Amino acid sequence: MAVLLTGGAGYIGSHTALKLLEKGEQVVVLDNLSNASPEALKRVGEITGKKAELVVGDCTNAGDLEKVFEAWDIRQVIHFAGLKAVGESVSIPLKYYRNNLDATLTLCEVMARHSCFELVFSSSATVYGTNQHMPLTEDLPLGCTNPYGWTKFMSEQILRDLAHSDARWHIVLLRYFNPAGAHESGQIGEDPTGIPNNLMPYICQTAAGKREKLHVFGNDYPTPDGTGVRDYLHVMDLAQGHLNALDYAHTHSGAEAFNLGTGKGYSVLDIVHAFEKANHLTLPYCIDPRRPGDIATCYADPSKAERLLGWRAEKSLEDMCRDAWNWQKNNPNGY
Ligand code: WQD
Repeated sequence: MAVLLTGGAGYIGSHTALKLLEKGEQVVVLDNLSNASPEALKRVGEITGKKAELVVGDCTNAGDLEKVFEAWDIRQVIHFAGLKAVGESVSIPLKYYRNNLDATLTLCEVMARHSCFELVFSSSATVYGTNQHMPLTEDLPLGCTNPYGWTKFMSEQILRDLAHSDARWHIVLLRYFNPAGAHESGQIGEDPTGIPNNLMPYICQTAAGKREKLHVFGNDYPTPDGTGVRDYLHVMDLAQGHLNALDYAHTHSGAEAFNLGTGKGYSVLDIVHAFEKANHLTLPYCIDPRRPGDIATCYADPSKAERLLGWRAEKSLEDMCRDAWNWQKNNPNGY
């Protein structure tokens, strides 16, 4: 019996593959390598002493998926694969809708043909949209501010309707908050292509001298220090959440959403200061205007995941800052 990770060579996928291998699971990865390197899984193998099977292919291609289901006895699937750059989704929305929705639809069709009905879906806190009271709970009304977020919202809806139509489906929707950090070995980590959109990789590249300084996008938000507040969680905690979700999917029919966050919000300057303290360095930064589409504050109420998945984030902000920098130092040019 094997677990299929679509997009499993990526940042969160590779850390989840590592956890699954350590647990003794057979792991198969289908990845088109558009935003990932095979080196990530090679290193996962070196760390664990076990091998994840990599099939280079695309979830929007039923033939590629069929090859995987015919070659291995896939019992559960974690669907990571998808385009995920918010800004890019605004400029090329059709590519995002076509790719992300096609992947989800095609995957479900092939899974059903092979009587595989246990699915964990990589969703995002972005489905909560704006103007929400904090902390965010899973029962809040959803709405998005960009095509990337809408693809996550629409995929969730597709999966909810599918589970409602056929009780054989066991589906978990994981709404990630802000993943950060890397495996303690410093051998795998976040390897964004080009200029990082996200805060922690940009901070790491600044500390490494690859970027002149961090541009803080606005300090006039209604937050304690005026900078944006987010719920950062260690990628290893996030990876563990997927294993808990697989266990829950095994015994629960339907489609259920869970926030994976710490329940704590930290501002951009909190992260800057924590990074400086954890790594004994000074980070150059400047204050720029707000980034369009950003919201002031976003953090989770993670109590449902704690109650039903038996999951809670355990690693600290210091762990995230230390492990992120360890990866950056060991791999100045990524994989
Ligand atoms: C965090 C904070 C920025 C970069 C995004 C996606 C979301 C999810 C996670 C996929 C904000 C500030 C950032 C920089 C800055 N991805 N910032 N300077 O925007 O909360 O969430 O990534 O699911 O869908 O929207 O994360 O890391 O981009 O920003 O000041 O160079 O850091 O304004 O307050 P975000 P982020």
